[in-house]
Parts: sequence; C-alpha cells; structure tokens
Amino acid sequence: METLQLDELLSYASDAEKEEWKALRLEYAHERGSLKLRQTIATQYPGLDEDHILVFTGAQEAIFCAMHATITSSSRCGVVTPAYESLLEIPKALGSQITPISLKPQSYGWAVDAETLRKAFTKKSFTNLILNFPHNPTGALLSLEMFNEIIHLSSINDSWIINDEVFRGLEHDSTKRLPPVASLTPRGISIGSISKPHGLGGLRIGWLACQNTEFLERTLFYKQSLSVCSSSIDDWLATLVVKNSSLLRRRTRSIALENLNFINQCIEKTQNKLIWTAPSAGCVAFPSLREDISITDLANSFLQNHSTMLIPGECFSHSPINHFRLGYGQKNFRELFKTFCTYLEMHYH
Ligand SMILES: Cc1ncc(COP(=O)(O)O)c(C=O)c1O
Repeated sequence: METLQLDELLSYASDAEKEEWKALRLEYAHERGSLKLRQTIATQYPGLDEDHILVFTGAQEAIFCAMHATITSSSRCGVVTPAYESLLEIPKALGSQITPISLKPQSYGWAVDAETLRKAFTKKSFTNLILNFPHNPTGALLSLEMFNEIIHLSSINDSWIINDEVFRGLEHDSTKRLPPVASLTPRGISIGSISKPHGLGGLRIGWLACQNTEFLERTLFYKQSLSVCSSSIDDWLATLVVKNSSLLRRRTRSIALENLNFINQCIEKTQNKLIWTAPSAGCVAFPSLREDISITDLANSFLQNHSTMLIPGECFSHSPINHFRLGYGQKNFRELFKTFCTYLEMHYH
C-alpha cells in the first residue's frame, strides 16, 4: 500500500496526544503490548477484551509464535493455497502433515470448492486449519456462508483455525467483510497488522486475538525468545493508527479502488495475453499469462528494462503455473501498469 509519512500520521493526533508523543519515554514496552494499544485493538473484536490480545513485532512474528504454540510433528494442517510463504513453510518446518486447500480461478473470482473442502475435512480430520482471508496473493474473500461452514467443520475435530486477517478492512465492498475468527470460536486465532490496511509496514506492529488464555500464554513464551517486546515508539504510534483506523483505511482503500478501475479499463487491450481474475479485497491480484509467455522471462526482462518487479507465482507455495502477483496499492500504479501493458503488446504477439 501507499505509505504514510510520519508527519501525516501525527496530524491525526489530538493536542494532548501530540504532547504525550513529545514526552514519550523510550523504555521497554510491555511484553504483551501496552494496555492502551491492546484496549484499542480489542474494540475490533466483538466479545473480546485487552486480555485476549497479544502484540508482536509485525504479524510475521505473531504467525510464527501462534504456529509454534499449536502445531507439532503429529499435526495435520489444512492450508489454503496459493499461500503467503510462512503460512505453509512454518507448519512444514515443524514437521506437520500438510494438505493444500486450493483456491481456483472462477469467472467471479478465486474460490474454494465447497465439496472438495468437505471431503478434505472428513478424510484428514485436520488438527489445524490455516486460512488467509482476505487472501494474499489472489485478493479472494470467502462468503460468510462458507466461512461459517468451515468453522462448523473445524469444531467437529476441535481444530485450531488460524486466519491471517492482515488485509481485513480493505474489502472492496465493505458489506462483505467477514467477522474476525477469534470472535466466532474459542479455537479461532485472528492475526492482524498495522502494515497492510494502513500503508504502514515500517511500524513493526502486528497482533493476534484469541479467546483461549492458555494458548495466549504459550504463544507469549515464544515471543519471549524473539523480540521480547515491540519498540515503544511503534507501540505508541500503532495506538494512534488503530484509533483512526477507519479514516486511514478510507485513504488506502480509495487508492486501491481507483487503480482497480484503471485495470478494468486497460484489460481489454491485453486480451489473450493476460487472464484476469478479479480480486474482492486488499491491494493485490493474481492474474495469469497466456501459456506460451513465461512469467519468469517476462518478470526478468521487465525488471531489467523498467526497474519494476512482478512477483512470479512460484514465489508462493502451491501456485498454479504462469500466474503473477500484481500489487495495485500505490499511487504511481497507473503509470507502471500502462508501461506493463505496452510492454506486453510490443514483445508478445
Ligand atoms: C498475508 C500476509 N500475512 C502477514 C504478513 C506480514 O505482515 P507484517 O508486515 O505485519 O509482519 C504479510 C506481509 O506481506 C502478508 O502478506
């Protein structure tokens, strides 16, 4: 996402908060995250309070700790694919058995086939389910009906459900926003972050939310051997961000939607070369190229000629072939995408 400057962020602070910022003591932050930050985050999780929130140095650390606290070599994990690398690689490194649950491109967007999912649940009796909705890299969302069915299926085996919800809040149609999994079931673990929805990846604050306090204590044990606590500067600024989350998200969401509009206008010109599957949330999409155009060759030559990276699908675990990730969260996206379409037009017939 398009990032914010520190000054822009501080313009959201009240006068009293500006004074607090100036007087901030640079001591160790609380290992669970400051009370103010956890209380502010908890307002996003119906039925939960600050004791159900743990703050981490980025969602990445939260994912690592949550997985170490719930997955062992005898676990059977169902993982939605293609997957953001750590969501599949950490359970694999822990020696668990992995069953990919593939998203497939459909005319209306990327989707999980309900029947395949039901069969997988019955056959594998998963101990852990790793979801990521809104999804990276496809921009897919689940319907509420499907989400509820997954929670029901998981409850039969008492499986843990980790939902990486870092793109939550960037649904293109906000009525399609799913409730956080942590509010729906005691075995649900919601992963959240400052970075994605607000364009603030440089503030290393992520968190997890869960009703199960015994799980939270086990997770904290892993954090104590990693960052111990977040930066107190990041913790303070993150409180300001979460407090003003809907205003900040309005900004990032409108950049993404304008760019998406532009993609839709251009897509006809790339006909037969680029196969588009529309995203429903976030700021990334996962189109594919005509079979005879190699995405790896195209990404390398486009990088050399225009200093712009495309992320080939092979960077994501269990990606279907010849897909690539297209990020459309930046203000200069239109210019870059126009250049990309012209490049495709000129080099491939
Ligand atoms: C799906 C997903 N989860 C987690 C992360 C990590 O987020 P953070 O920057 O908060 O560590 C990313 C970052 O790219 C991501 O795409």
